[in-house]
This record gives sequence, C-alpha cells and structure tokens, in this order.
Amino acid sequence: MTAQESGTAAAGTETLRERLLASLVTARARTTLLTSCVEEPDLTAQHSPLMSPLVWDLAHIGNQEELWLLRNVGGREPMRPEIDGLYDAFEHPRSERPSLPLLPPEEARRYAAEVRGRALDLLEGADFEGTRLTEAGFAFGMIAQHEQQHDETMLITHQLRTGPTALTAPDHRPAPPYTGPAEVLVPGGPFTMGTSTEPWALDNERPAHVREVAPYWIDTVPVSNAAYQAFIADGGYDTERWWTPEGWAHVRRNSLTAPLYWHREGDQWLRRRFGVTEAVPPEEPVLHVCWYEADAYARWAGRRLPTEAEWEKAARYDPATGRSARYPWGDAEPGPEHANLGQRHLSPAPVGSYPAGGSPLGVRQLIGDVWEWTSSDLAPYPGFAAFPYREYSEVFFGPEYKVLRGGSFAVDAVACRGTFRNWDYPIRRQIFSGFRTARSESA
Ligand code: AVJ
Ligand code: FE
Repeated sequence: MTAQESGTAAAGTETLRERLLASLVTARARTTLLTSCVEEPDLTAQHSPLMSPLVWDLAHIGNQEELWLLRNVGGREPMRPEIDGLYDAFEHPRSERPSLPLLPPEEARRYAAEVRGRALDLLEGADFEGTRLTEAGFAFGMIAQHEQQHDETMLITHQLRTGPTALTAPDHRPAPPYTGPAEVLVPGGPFTMGTSTEPWALDNERPAHVREVAPYWIDTVPVSNAAYQAFIADGGYDTERWWTPEGWAHVRRNSLTAPLYWHREGDQWLRRRFGVTEAVPPEEPVLHVCWYEADAYARWAGRRLPTEAEWEKAARYDPATGRSARYPWGDAEPGPEHANLGQRHLSPAPVGSYPAGGSPLGVRQLIGDVWEWTSSDLAPYPGFAAFPYREYSEVFFGPEYKVLRGGSFAVDAVACRGTFRNWDYPIRRQIFSGFRTARSESA
C-alpha cells in the first residue's frame, strides 16, 4: 500500500466510525423520546396483548447491544446474566412480558445507558475487519438497525395506546392531488434481487441473485384512503368472492368492516391517530390494513398484490443500465427529499408525494410512508446462510408469514433500503401497513 492509499483507507475507517456513531446516537435519541413522552405507568403497562410494555423494549434494546457489541465483538463478560432470559424474545411471548420481573423504568434506562457508554468506548478503538461480525462495522450497524426496529415497534404501541399523547411532529405540506399515470409497465426479464455488497444488509437480504420476472404493471403510488373507501362503499367487506377462504373466515369471525382505528360517524369515516380523532384524509395511503384486506381490495380492483420480486424490481431496476440500485432514486443515502422516513411525520404523505424519490420508471413512495404487503411468503434466497443468529430470520421462513417491503414513516433510513425485508402474519394490522397493486401484462 502506498502512503496515499493507506491515508485514504484510514480516512474511510474514520468516516465509517462517524457514521456508526451517528446511527447509534440517532437511534438512542428516538428511543429516549419514545420512552420519556409518557408517564411511568404507561411504560410498564401493556397497551395491547400484541405488544410488549415499552419498558421491555427499552431493556431489550440494551440487552441485545450488550450481547452483540460488548460480549461478541468486545469479548466482555455478561453485565447482568440474570436478566438475559427476561429479554430473550423467544423465551417469553409478548403477551407474557408484563408479568415478568422486568427492570423498572429507571433501572432499564440506567442499564441501557451503561451498555451504550461501553459500546461507544469499544467503537472508539474498533477496527472494521477480521471477522464477518466486525467487517465494515456490521455488528454496530446491525445494532443501530435493531434499536430503530424496536423504535418502530414502540411507536406502534403508542398508536395502540388510547388517550392524549405528547408525541408530536409537523404535518405534511398540503399537496395538489396526484394526477400522473396510475400504473407503469415494468419490462420482463432478469434483474438482480438481494445484495452481496450492502455492508449492513441483514442475512435475509443476501445473497444477490438473478431473478426472471415476466412483464407486469404496478401502481405508481400506494392505494389511497379514497380508493379504499370505494371498496368499502361497494360492499367489499360483505362480498365473499373478493376474499381468500382464510381471509373471508377472518373478516367474518372478527366482524371487520374497515381498517384498524377507523369508525363511521354518519356518512363520514373518522380515525384515531396517536390519541386524536380526525377525518380520514382521502389523499393519504391507506394504513393499518392486514394482508387479507389488501389481497381482497386488489381482487375487487381486478388486480393483484405484486410478488416480492416484482416489488423489488420496481424499486431497484434501472432499465437504462440493467442494474439494480440501492434505492429507487439511485445509490445515494435517503434524504428528506426522497422519502418520508424516521418519524419526521406521524403519518404517511399524500399519494404522489416525493417525486425526487421516484424510480427510473416513475414509481413513487416505494421507500417510506407505508410498509407494502406483497403476495409472497417469507422464504430464503438461494444461498441463504443465517448470520449472526438463526432467530433473526431463519426461524420465520415458511408460509405463515407474508413479506412487506419499503418501510414506513416510522422506519429510520438505517433500517430501510431497496433490499430490506419485513414480514408478519396475514392478520396483522397494528403495524404501519398499506399496499399497492399490480397486474400481469397479459392480463
Ligand atoms: C423484522 C420487524 C419482524 O420486530 O419482530 C427485532 C425485527 N428482530 N428484534 C421484529 C426484530 C429482532 C423483527 N421484524
Ligand atoms: Fe429485538
């Protein structure tokens, strides 16, 4: 190596160190906000059997950071081995967590802060090579993503919670109605799905591999509340033929008639959003629908949900070069002009927003706003290898889980990219989920 090359490498290492530090600091600021904007009893209460008490998420964030950064990377001894079991997501289902002897809020805060102090000391002197865990700062990047994923989980808990909230964020600027094309044609043929080069990509996004996709049309924007209301008004929830047998059984058994948090008053649809009741805004992407609802809407519209491969091709493939980019707009990190991410707002933006974040074919809002249901089950890519632990992805592979793509307004950029995969049960709708539809070209 020449002196100049080693100088460049050293500068690259320092840039990486700064980015890791910034990602950890950003995540902690959000965790602090989400665990300090309510009173103590609201931290230990269970606001829904679907969710952990907020204080569990807080200590679990610290415990995972201790496990991966301090013990695995740093070789340190466990700080409090007696609490590990409490914060192991696989030992106790969410519904049980409030009855565990969890660390009380002050202790949970102190524990997470102590872990963080030591992790930052470790980051100071870390070199980013040697093992797969340290390569390109992977473990630190994984832990920043993990914290942000739990921040989204905590925001879901805040939304489930009734009563006023101290959480605030600016509204979106009013936008003219979207008048562009309703759908675009994505050419058939091979494209590269997944990644082998994105340094902090998680195991289920790897490796890059070629997929063949037949030509298809995909919505340029997510399905709006106005469009979804037309489905409701047309008797969508009362018409068996739009639903899969499981979906029909589910809506009947649970008397579903609209997205979660919606209710009707006279001829108006209202919704509860972070403790406030307001009119459903027609121009916003529909939010809090389950996979069965998304699938039924698509059938009613004479369309279908995109497959996961179709979603990713629409989000990454550039027909001009044949290459798959990191994001719809190219390889640049997401900025506020590209996408509604990171809880900068407490709702998705009107459909058609963020033109600068569009794909080469003009598909908008693939990243941010609402998680988008796809028709696909969560499955490993060819050549998948669990890393660094089987419980991140591998134990979830199979037909029980449907894949969601693209992230929501509640996802931070560090945990969102064109290859990022999320999943949940087809009945779930407390998550920040919406969708867009597609159709085969021949159809
Ligand atoms: C990938 C969002 C389904 O929240 O259950 C957090 C992420 N994994 N801690 C989840 C996760 C371990 C996971 N999802
Ligand atoms: Fe976790």
